[in-house]
Amino acid sequence: MDKKILVTGPFGQIGSELVPKLQERYGKENVVALGHRHIPDDYEGVLEQGGVEDKEFMEGLWKEYDFDEVYHLASLLSATGEKRPDLAWKVNMGGLKNVLDLSRDHDSRVFWASSIAVFGPTTPLNDTPQHTILEPVTMYGVTKVSGELLCQYYHEKYDLDVRSLRYPGLISWKEKPGGGTTDYAVEMFYKAIRGEKYTCFVREDTELPMMYMDDAVRGTLELMEADNESITVRTSYNHSALNFKAGELVNEIKKHYPDFKVEYEPDERQKNADSWPDSVDDSKAREDWDWEHKYGLKKMVEVMLKNLENKLN
Ligand code: SER
Repeated sequence: MDKKILVTGPFGQIGSELVPKLQERYGKENVVALGHRHIPDDYEGVLEQGGVEDKEFMEGLWKEYDFDEVYHLASLLSATGEKRPDLAWKVNMGGLKNVLDLSRDHDSRVFWASSIAVFGPTTPLNDTPQHTILEPVTMYGVTKVSGELLCQYYHEKYDLDVRSLRYPGLISWKEKPGGGTTDYAVEMFYKAIRGEKYTCFVREDTELPMMYMDDAVRGTLELMEADNESITVRTSYNHSALNFKAGELVNEIKKHYPDFKVEYEPDERQKNADSWPDSVDDSKAREDWDWEHKYGLKKMVEVMLKNLENKLN
């Protein structure tokens, strides 16, 4: 029998690359995209529209499709979450609670997106271990830590097969990130190609863990395909590829666009960035389900520029 799959947040930065991969693997008719406001004109596939925090609506979806797997990506990000903390709590926590309850009741396997935002100023900054201090200072981070604990609780109490990754800043060219702190790492590429100056909202020496989207999507699919017994972390796995300072990314882009100009004007997002690690230790993911990244800084920049140049010109 065909596997039925639900993707929430299907048209966001991750969803827009994950959905086509799932459609390829499992058939277009088996992947249900749960959109909210923005539905791209060129989307081809099964579409539902509604809010993840609406319990009745979500129950109706499970009744209709009886999902085997859910990729729950819908979430407010860190910068938007600081502007609208009540909404961030409602969507991030309400949505996850509904997904976990319905997946428990219908025996669905769950993927949920967590983030490096679970870490905070008291967390060790370098090579942050899997098990460490989690005292985030953003509402986004608060919802992600709470969510991780809830996932682990549903696994322990109800044997729910829930799996999760602490994504670093994700870099991609298909869809822009919306309202995050790591967005500068994507915005720079657009400006460089358009020959415009970029005003960066974090300091030049701000270092954060990052990943090219192809690695993130492949990691997500590999985690979901791994044997149940190999998964030893039910909160969320540290998931890492490359780390760079904002200025290092600029220098790498300048190898292709020597005239690219950047000035630094840190805003309120600097505080979020400062509270997150410079690098994380993801050896648990590498041991448990053989995670391996493929894109380093140089290759990521080359591929980003090539694809974005095609897209923009
Ligand atoms: N990219 C996210 C953000 O900046 C981190 O998970 O909010």
